[in-house]
Amino acid sequence: MSKVTVVGAGNVGATVANVLAHEDIVKEVVMIDIKGDIARGKALDSWQQAPIDYYSTYLSGSEDYSATEGSDIVVITAGLPRKPGMSRDDLIATNAQIVNGVTASILKYSDNPIIIVVSNPLDVMTYVAYKASGLDSSRVMGMAGILDTARYRAFLAEALKVSPKDIQAVLMGGHGDTMVPLPRYTTVAGIPVTELIDAESLDKIVERTKFGGGELVQLMGTSAWYAPGAAAAQMVSSIVKDERRIFPCCVKLQGEYGISDIFVGAPVILGKNGIEKIIELQLNADEMQLLNDSAEHVKQVMEVYDRMAL
Ligand code: NAI
Ligand code: 2OP
Repeated sequence: MSKVTVVGAGNVGATVANVLAHEDIVKEVVMIDIKGDIARGKALDSWQQAPIDYYSTYLSGSEDYSATEGSDIVVITAGLPRKPGMSRDDLIATNAQIVNGVTASILKYSDNPIIIVVSNPLDVMTYVAYKASGLDSSRVMGMAGILDTARYRAFLAEALKVSPKDIQAVLMGGHGDTMVPLPRYTTVAGIPVTELIDAESLDKIVERTKFGGGELVQLMGTSAWYAPGAAAAQMVSSIVKDERRIFPCCVKLQGEYGISDIFVGAPVILGKNGIEKIIELQLNADEMQLLNDSAEHVKQVMEVYDRMAL
């Protein structure tokens, strides 16, 4: 049975831990936060939910990384969230320092963990964790595509008045306004979505999806946590159970889609070794152009980080 560490016991981190505990698939979840009592408190609260909701996963919290010793999977959610008017990229200076430090501390106590990054700007923070960890790129990935696809699927379900369960979709690119939802790869119970919705309504949904994170920041004054937390937990679950589910995740592309050394969202198979395979879709010229634009944007922010020389 696995041990999972969640760094950052804020809105997203606490949700990841709580959702995972409900799945009852890991032995232990450790929450780490610079505010140690918050991590301890949220872990204790979730543990006291166990007799009610029937799970055995033990939760604990700390500010001390020795508690993370021997972790199989680490989810990094530490960092500042967006406030209204901020883009995800505005968070780079603060969060790069945090993710860099957190990754180094994790590696002191766990030899070869799988790291799932959630902190923003997501694609570049995944790159930061990759560089700081020295791990193989198959073991360092970012969570964004499951969330962005879920938003797209939820909007479609609402428009079509069908269950979100029946909407299958894939979305690529960076976690930002340049993300690339792919209507050509969207189906509703096997039916191409374009047979069920007119082009104008579909375009509106694609646009709303691209700005889905910002819509929530405007509503709540901070960024979302229920769907993001559940999405990160779903990645952990596929790895722990070696389920080999296919999800869009932020990964280091190494020639796939003609893109190299950039961390960007692409469909992957997630199993016990992390990223088991990056799936290459046969994108058409328009889709490829959108993906290249998105990758170029991420590359520019990666270069900002490289110049910071932490
Ligand atoms: P939050 O403010 O509720 O929680 C962040 C936690 O990190 C706080 O408890 C804070 O004390 C902790 N922290 C800060 N520095 C730390 C350090 N050095 N070591 C350990 N803990 C530290 O923020 P929230 O809403 O949980 O968001 C966390 C991050 O996730 C943000 O960067 C946010 O933008 C990002 N995010 C990413 C999403 C995605 O799709 N990839 C979706 C939603 C949020
Ligand atoms: C989101 O998409 C802000 O990245 C965060 O909700």
